[in-house]
Parts: sequence; C-alpha cells; structure tokens
Amino acid sequence: MIKVLFVCLGNICRSPVGEAIFQKLVNDKGLNSKISVDSAGMAGYHTGEHADSRMRKHALKRGYEITHRARKIRSEDFFEFDYILIMDQNNYHDYLRLDPGKVYRDKVFFATDFAKNRKEKEVPDPYYGGPEGFEHVIDIMEDVAQGLLRDIKEKHDIG
Ligand code: 4NP
Repeated sequence: MIKVLFVCLGNICRSPVGEAIFQKLVNDKGLNSKISVDSAGMAGYHTGEHADSRMRKHALKRGYEITHRARKIRSEDFFEFDYILIMDQNNYHDYLRLDPGKVYRDKVFFATDFAKNRKEKEVPDPYYGGPEGFEHVIDIMEDVAQGLLRDIKEKHDIG
C-alpha cells in the first residue's frame, strides 16, 4: 500500500479537498487497494470538525464529496506515510519543527511539485478570502492529483 497524506494548516480547506480529489482519482482508476489517502493539519484548532462548508460546497459542485474530519498531524505520520504533500512555506516551517533532523525530508513534498500545468509554487490559503480562492485551490489540486498518480505509477509497481 502506498500511503499519501495531504497536509495544510487547519485541515478544513486545502488538505481535505486535496484528499477528496486524489481519492476520487484513485477510486476511478480502481487503485484503492494499492493507494490510501488521508489528510491532516499542522494545527489542531479544528480537530473533529467537518471541512469548511464553503470548501465542501465548491468541491461538491465539481463532483468531490469531502467527508473527512479534521485532525492534527502526529509524529508517527512521518514514519507511516510515503508521500506527505504540504501546501505552503508556513507548513514547511511547521514540518521542520516536528522533524528538525530532516529524517523524513525525502517524503515531504510541496503539493505543487506534482502540478504539471500550473505555475504556482504554493497552494494559497483560501480561508479569509472569497469564493474564487476556493475554486483556485481545486484547480491546482486537480492538476496535483494527476501528476501525483503519474509519479506513484512511475516509482512503484502498482499495475
Ligand atoms: P486550511 O485553511 O489550512 O487550508 O485548512 C485554514 C483553515 C483555518 C484557519 C487557517 C487556514 N484558521 O486560522 O482557523
């Protein structure tokens, strides 16, 4: 099983939609016995909550149902997961606090590293902005999902 973890700050906007988009792609390709997907937040303020209702609405309009409940990242996650996709530089600084020796650095990626058709270096936080911010996150994440699946297929024998 290849284990993928999407990580943002609150685990209620960017990472749960990344999870839902990638999970749908994995399901559509019949790969859910080979790839598992989860998400987590660097902060725990929203632990146990549903994803932000604005993000759930925008995602559903595009065919993605977000059922995830927010959770804070745990140190074991760095051991357990194979791909840890972070959204921005702030997440990277938070990651370094959790893994100061960079033991797990090879598993930590910027989500945008996998986007082949977009120029953004970070997935911007939509929380304090308008509806276009949520659409923008989904646009980026759809591209990330395609590129990530391609990368996993190239590096792992998953059929
Ligand atoms: P996310 O967005 O990191 O994409 O889930 C945020 C959600 C909540 C907060 C900040 C960003 N917050 O400050 O509560």
